[in-house]
Amino acid sequence: MITVALAKGRVYRSFNQFLADKHLDEYANALIDGGRDLFREVGGVRFIFVKGKDVPTYVEQGVADLGVVGSDTIAEQLFNVLNVSELPFGQCRLAMAGPKYMSESDIKVVATSFPNITRKYFNQAKQDVSLVFLNGSVELAPILGLADAIVDIVQTGTTLKENELEEYKTILPVQARLIANKQSFYTKEMEIYSFMREIEVV
Ligand code: PRP
Repeated sequence: MITVALAKGRVYRSFNQFLADKHLDEYANALIDGGRDLFREVGGVRFIFVKGKDVPTYVEQGVADLGVVGSDTIAEQLFNVLNVSELPFGQCRLAMAGPKYMSESDIKVVATSFPNITRKYFNQAKQDVSLVFLNGSVELAPILGLADAIVDIVQTGTTLKENELEEYKTILPVQARLIANKQSFYTKEMEIYSFMREIEVV
């Protein structure tokens, strides 16, 4: 048995779509509509559903052998896990955005859930900004005057558009990644490769 930690939300939805597109029915049928289940088993694979930011922790600690997570999460924080491969779904981007017609040089306060990536970006750009950390609904910050701009995930661009915000630039392209516990990757190599072949990512 191997355990795979799946990031709930965006990554989970795109993984389901990937399974459906590939007609991988056994997995697709079992995973469709996760509801409020905490885990589900399909054959020799146990999927656990956790917050995206917690996926690397479960994998690092060996509670999960594999993890499916957005590359944004592992770029934001360093984890002692094996970065196995890119996965062909979950494409989006971490982008800087804000009110229309604002000049980048006027940005002094930035709200984000990705302080490390954002800090690094502005340091490299040699621009002095203060960061406001938010866990979600980051788009509210420039609308309510908490920040001048945001650095947040953009997928379709709908959330920005609906809030009359404009995307200034991509900071980091993002997609789903497969990560593994360093020890499990060797001790459970056969099962891990068998799962990867089943979902056609190797
Ligand atoms: C992300 C992000 C944006 C939204 C962008 O939120 O924070 O709010 O998706 O998607 P769009 O470009 O397709 O509109 P998510 O739903 O992942 O939840 P979060 O607000 O908790 O980050």
